[in-house]
Parts: sequence; C-alpha cells; structure tokens
Amino acid sequence: MKTVTVNASRTYDITIERGLITSSGDIAAKLTKLPCKIMIVSDSTVHAIYGEKVSQSFTKAGFEVYEYIFPAGEASKNVNTLADLWEEMADKHFTRSDMIAALGGGVVGDLAGFAAATFLRGIQYVQIPTTLLAMVDSSVGGKTAIDLKGGKNLAGAFYQPSAVICDPDTLSTLPAETYSDGMAEVIKYGMINKPELLRTLQTEYDVADVIETCVCAKRDIVNEDEHDVGVRQFLNLGHTLGHGIERSSNYTIPHGRAVAVGMVLITKAAIKAGKCTEETLGVLEQLLVKNGLPLSIDITAEELCDAALNDKKRKGNSITVVIPVSTGNSVLEKMSIEELNTLVKGVWQA
Ligand code: NAD
Ligand code: GLY
Repeated sequence: MKTVTVNASRTYDITIERGLITSSGDIAAKLTKLPCKIMIVSDSTVHAIYGEKVSQSFTKAGFEVYEYIFPAGEASKNVNTLADLWEEMADKHFTRSDMIAALGGGVVGDLAGFAAATFLRGIQYVQIPTTLLAMVDSSVGGKTAIDLKGGKNLAGAFYQPSAVICDPDTLSTLPAETYSDGMAEVIKYGMINKPELLRTLQTEYDVADVIETCVCAKRDIVNEDEHDVGVRQFLNLGHTLGHGIERSSNYTIPHGRAVAVGMVLITKAAIKAGKCTEETLGVLEQLLVKNGLPLSIDITAEELCDAALNDKKRKGNSITVVIPVSTGNSVLEKMSIEELNTLVKGVWQA
C-alpha cells in the first residue's frame, strides 16, 4: 500500500492499492463517528460497474448508505445536478456529521466535492477516483466546481477531501481513449519539472508507481500553494490553450486531449519566441503519440485566442502562462493578453 499525506487546510491521506475500493467503508469509518449517513455520488456508467461493491463496503462498515446517480458526462456537471443533489441530501436529513463519497472520474469528483463544500456550509467527503485523470490530478488538491453556461468550472470552491481512496484495478474497465486522457496529465507533470517521470514513461512501468509520482508532485505543489496564487499555476501547463480548445469545441473534445494539444501549441510558441528547444517538442510529441493523444486539432489562431482568453486564470489584462523551456523544465511567465495573442498566432505563421 502507498500512502501520500497532503498538508493543506485539511490534512488527509491518499491511499493507493489494488483492490482498495472494497475497503472504502473502513477507511471512511476512521474519519467519523458512526452511526453516520453517507451519500455515494456517482455517474451512471461507474455506478453500474462499481456501485454495489462500494455500497456494500460502506454498509458493512456501519454507514447508513444513500446513493445519488446522474448521467455520465461533462454535461451533467451543472447547477441542476448540484441543486438536485442538495435537495436529495436535505430530503434524507443529512447533517454536518454525515459524509459524501465521490465515486467516479473528475466530473463526479468536482460536482460531489462542490456539493460537500456548500451543503450545510461544508460536510466531509472522500474521493474514490476511477479514471486515471482523477487519480493523478482531480481527486487531489480540493478544487471543486461545476460548469456554467458561460464556461467551464466557473462556480466552485477550494475544499479538500478527508481521504482519497485510489484503486488502480478500476482502470481495467476504462475505455482506452479515457485512459489516454489521463496520460496527458501524467505527461504534464513530467514536462513541468519531472524529467525522470518522462524517462519512466519510455519504459515498462507499473501504473501504481506513476500515480504515486504524480500525486506526490501535486501534493508538494498544493502544500505550498493551496489557493492557486503561486506555484500551483504550474499545473496549468497546456491548460490556457486547452480550455480554449474545449470551449471552442463546445466541450466535445475531452479535457485530456485538449490539454495535450494545448501543451504542443504552447511549446511550439515558446520555440518560435526563442524560449524553448526543438528537442523538448520532440520528446513531448513522441510521448503524446505513444499514448494515443493528438498533436493538433482543426482550429484557427483567432478562434483559439478568442476562446482561450476568456480563461478564469486571466487577471485584468494579464495572464500567467506556463512556458516549457527544456525537457522536464517549465517557467511561469506573466504576459499581457496582446503578448499571448502574438505568441500563439506565431505558431500558425510559416
Ligand atoms: P469523467 O469523469 O467524465 O469520466 C470519463 C468517462 O469515463 C465517463 O463516461 C465515466 O462514466 C467513465 N468512467 C469513469 N471511470 C470509469 C471506469 N473505471 N470504468 C469505466 N468507465 C469509467 O472525466 P475525467 O476525464 O475523469 O474528468 C474530467 C473532469 O475533471 C472535467 O470536468 C475537468 O474539468 C475535471 N478536472 C478537475 C480537476 C481538479 O483539479 N478538480 C483537474 C483536472 C480535471
Ligand atoms: N488541475 C489543476 C489544479 O489542481 O490546480
């Protein structure tokens, strides 16, 4: 068993072990006083595969178990689902000593986490991530959110879970494309400041080790900058342009694929500006292709800039952009919106 402890506004353990999902109840029971209600929040796909196992585990540990299931997909991460979940918890008389368990990918985790942050001004929740993306990124660090008509993740809160229960065996049922999406975030950690991770990805590796490496990298960042005003911004490598790609596709391009293309574009832009080496782009592109991820999509510079510059990371007329400078080494650069526009448009010029 691997355990990584986060020391943010709440201290909690991320536990990684094959088969761990059946111990979810015992892990959560240590965080509260029983009897206690638990609302298992999940999506239709994940619930059909793992719902019963997890529900049994909570029942066996002594919880009074309730379930809230919504249709799988980003389109459910909205205010209607959130309000429905709030009402369900009110209807079942949930109190501040009760809990939520988020069983699923980043969509479930973000929505259930935001419900936990806001119901009765905050109740405990545990994350049980079932996608690679959720294991290496979204279940850790307490960013919770829903999407608004005006854009992705526009309403949310920083609210840390009480535990992250990570069972790599659940990845066996993940569609290959969804697994690849998670690999984009893994490669991102390597590109930020973990050249050794990039080398590991070239070898035969155990995914549990890679998850641990990514989670440790995120732990270090969140411990130092929980509220995203400093080093946490490094986690946005490829995300400013990636969010623009997601937005311009009306969210039909998944987050991981958009981040992959976003990383390629910002690396090409950095090369044009004389800030990055060609070798870095080569390593990035080779790893993305190896992991079934795209290097480009059909979008014009104008469309991308328009969509990207609505990003919530923008502050007035400036934005902090993560610039790759060499393999496994990136820097933060604050630039004006005009400068970013010029940088991005440079990639489209011959
Ligand atoms: P997702 O939660 O929509 O899951 C993708 C698909 O895989 C869904 O259809 C789901 O039902 C299915 N699925 C999940 N686990 C499965 C399993 N084990 N077996 C079979 N099918 C399974 O998407 P995601 O890629 O996990 O997360 C994307 C979301 O995460 C986005 O909303 C993004 O904004 C958010 N995100 C949040 C953070 C954060 O820090 N909070 C970071 C990155 C991304
Ligand atoms: N995924 C970005 C963050 O947690 O800050």
